[in-house]
Amino acid sequence: MQISITKTTHPKQKPDETKLGFGKIFTDHMFMMNYSGAKGWHDARIVPYGDITLSPSSMVFHYGQEMFEGLKAYKGKDGKARLFRPDMNAKRANKSNERLCIPQIPEDMFVEAVKAVVEVDKDWIPSAPGTSLYIRPFVIATDAFLGVAPSDTYLFMILLSPSGAYYESGLEPVGIWIEDEYVRAVRGGMGFAKTGGNYAASLAAQVKAHDDGYSQVLWLDGVERKYIEEVGAMNIFFKINGTVVTPMLNGSILPGITRDSVIHMCKDWGYTVEERKIDVHELEQAFADGTLEEVFGTGTAAVISPVGKLRFGDEVMEIGGGKIGPLSQKLYDTLTGIQWGDLKDPYGWSVVID
Ligand code: PLP
Ligand code: COI
Repeated sequence: MQISITKTTHPKQKPDETKLGFGKIFTDHMFMMNYSGAKGWHDARIVPYGDITLSPSSMVFHYGQEMFEGLKAYKGKDGKARLFRPDMNAKRANKSNERLCIPQIPEDMFVEAVKAVVEVDKDWIPSAPGTSLYIRPFVIATDAFLGVAPSDTYLFMILLSPSGAYYESGLEPVGIWIEDEYVRAVRGGMGFAKTGGNYAASLAAQVKAHDDGYSQVLWLDGVERKYIEEVGAMNIFFKINGTVVTPMLNGSILPGITRDSVIHMCKDWGYTVEERKIDVHELEQAFADGTLEEVFGTGTAAVISPVGKLRFGDEVMEIGGGKIGPLSQKLYDTLTGIQWGDLKDPYGWSVVID
């Protein structure tokens, strides 16, 4: 793939690495590439970060035909930049694209584009502990047309955002609200795809949870309204009586790359890992029995996020005395150790950008 590069003439001041937050600061450059039925993907370019012009009738504004991804670049003590399993993001992007009638992006093209734009802005990868460069690839439908149909033209872009912890609390356990009014996705819908509509559907419940002092929502299935699905921006794991349990991939939850990595590591460490349906009442029972040992979320932005409090109806389950559990801590240390290049990577997950 030919990628033209136009460098900015006004490089921005780099931010204070101790005050990054999540997703608020953007680097000097971004990647763009167009698609049309006649030309396929074309005109790959890296340009100065800035506003773009679109017709107000662009289809993405009206019917939400879009896909996005999320991954990170990490700067190790050796000064090298690393990506974590970018091929998995490329594969998932195409699963989402397929569901949304967006054309496929060849996997090697996706990974090459990510590497190229990170290379241009590699000085923006922060190195303070716990910080990284969040990478946001996305595709939007750009036909100027109000009919409901797949667009013929698309724009693929990649933005880069130096980021710290997703939750303000960092590794402090978060409170999660188990939602019993709204649902996020149903089987046969697009819950497994990473697309804006799923997140739009989540906002009303998130606002309610925030108002009550909870960080995020844990969704239940849309049919029986009792099986655990996932959290707003992460998959969820439970350690019940020594066994690691997580909802199976059923079409309505996102197949998280961190989830897959955690399952691999736990199995390697000798844990029994069950991917299955989990009834919320089973959790209540495990809590009552004292066998609900740890609860944690997994995600690119959230990494391993211990859950200290689960609210369901009138019940509030306090887990692990408000402290991170030993398995959650070990997963966090090992995963981030591999991501930053501090630990040996026995899985071949870490990809050095050279
Ligand atoms: N579930 C949802 C709804 C998400 O937004 C995310 C974040 O990407 C995840 C799960 C975790 O996926 P991953 O580990 O690939 O980041
Ligand atoms: C991610 O972890 O990459 C996410 O996309 C979560 C989120 C900010 C939606």
